[in-house]
Amino acid sequence: MRVIGLMSGTSIDGIDAALVEILGSRDDLKIELIAGQTFPYPEALRHQILSVCSGDSLSIAELATLDDAIAHQFSQAALSIQTGHPTAELIGSHGQTVYHRPATHPSQLGYSLQLGRGATIAQITQTTTISNFRAADIAAGGQGAPLVPPVDRALLSHPTHTRCIQNIGGIGNLAYLPKKSAPAKILGWDTGPGNMLLDLAVHVLSQGSQTYDRDGAWAATGSSCQTLVDRWLQQDFFQLPPPKSTGREQFGSDYLQACLTDAQVENLSAADILATLTEFTAASIVHSYQTFLPQMPDQVLLCGGGSRNLYLKQRLQTRLGDVPVLTTDECGLNADFKEAIAFAVLAYWRQKEIPGNLPDVTGARAAVPLGEIYQAF
Ligand SMILES: Nc1ncnc2c1ncn2[C@@H]1O[C@H](COP(=O)(O)OP(=O)(O)OP(=O)(O)O)[C@@H](O)[C@H]1O
Ligand SMILES: [Mg+2]
Repeated sequence: MRVIGLMSGTSIDGIDAALVEILGSRDDLKIELIAGQTFPYPEALRHQILSVCSGDSLSIAELATLDDAIAHQFSQAALSIQTGHPTAELIGSHGQTVYHRPATHPSQLGYSLQLGRGATIAQITQTTTISNFRAADIAAGGQGAPLVPPVDRALLSHPTHTRCIQNIGGIGNLAYLPKKSAPAKILGWDTGPGNMLLDLAVHVLSQGSQTYDRDGAWAATGSSCQTLVDRWLQQDFFQLPPPKSTGREQFGSDYLQACLTDAQVENLSAADILATLTEFTAASIVHSYQTFLPQMPDQVLLCGGGSRNLYLKQRLQTRLGDVPVLTTDECGLNADFKEAIAFAVLAYWRQKEIPGNLPDVTGARAAVPLGEIYQAF
C-alpha cells in the first residue's frame, strides 16, 4: 500500500511528509521511502501555534479557524509530496500537538490535543485519512506517547545487538529494542528536552534572528557549566520512572527563563549557555538510560532534527563512552523522516485493525488500534 505519513512535532518547525510503500504487517513489515520533504509553516501560523502552545488563550471560534488552517497546511503537504509519483491510497496524519497533559493521578485520564482534523485533510486531498492517533491509547489509560517504538521494533530490531533508537525532536524519546535472539520487553519513554530549549535559547540570544543552532556550531564555541547541568537534572521529571511523556508545557519558555536566570548568576556567555543546554540534553538522555534501562545498549541510533546537531551528537558519544552513537540513516532508515514514516505505518496498521500502541511503553491497559478513520466523499 502507498501511504503518506504527516508529522509536525513539538519543535513547530514545519510538517514532515513521507510518501512510503508499505508491505507485510508487523513482524514482516517492509517500507520503502519514495519521497520525504519538510514543509515549513508560514511564519504567522507558526507564531500563532507557538503562542497557543505557551498557554495563550483563544476563543472556540479561533480554535476552529486554527484547526482548519493547520489541516489546510497538512493537506498541501500531502498533495505536494505526491507530485511526480503515483498517488497514495491512505494518509496517516499526526497533526500538530498544542497541548499534552499526562495523567497526574491513577483515576484521571491524560489529555493530548492535536490540531489539523483528519476530516478536512480527507476532504481536501480526496484520500482516506487517519488522525487523532493518541486518543485510543489515552482512553485505555496510557500516556498516548511515545507511539513510535512499535514501528522502530518492526523496522530496526537487530538479531544480535540491543539498540536504543533515540529521537531528538523538540522533546527527546527513545525506543529500547532488545536483540531479536533474546526477546525481552521493548521499552520507551520521553527522555526530556530535545531541541526545544536550544531552539528557544537561540531565538532569545540571537534577538530573534535565528531559530536553531545549525550543526551545534554556536554551542561548540562555548564551555558548559556542569554545576547547572547537575542541578537541572535533579528535577522530578528525570527521576520519575517510566511510563512518562512530556512537552512544551514542561520544557517551554518558562523553563528556559529559569535556566537563563541560573546562567546569569553563573556569568555564562551566550555560547556557554548554549553549550550548557546542549550538555543538559545529552546528560538527560544518558541519565535516563543509566537509571531506567535493564542494561546499556550495544548501539544508539539517533533520528529527528537533533541528530543533525553535530555538537550534541559528539557530547552524547562522549557521555556514552564505547557505545557507538550512529544515526538511523546508517541502518537504512532516513533519520529526518522516520517519525513521519512511523505515522504512515500506524495508519496502515489501523486500516488492517492491527494494534498500534505498546502497553509496556505507554502504560495503557491494552494494545488497541490507533487513530480515527475519515473517508473522502
Ligand atoms: N543541522 C542541524 N543542526 C542542529 N539542529 C538541527 C539541524 N537540523 C534540524 N535541527 C533541529 O531539529 C529541530 C526539528 O526537529 P524535528 O522536526 O525532528 O522535531 P519535531 O518537529 O519536534 O518532531 P518530533 O516531535 O516528531 O520528534 C529543529 O527545530 C532544530 O532545532
Ligand atoms: Mg519537525
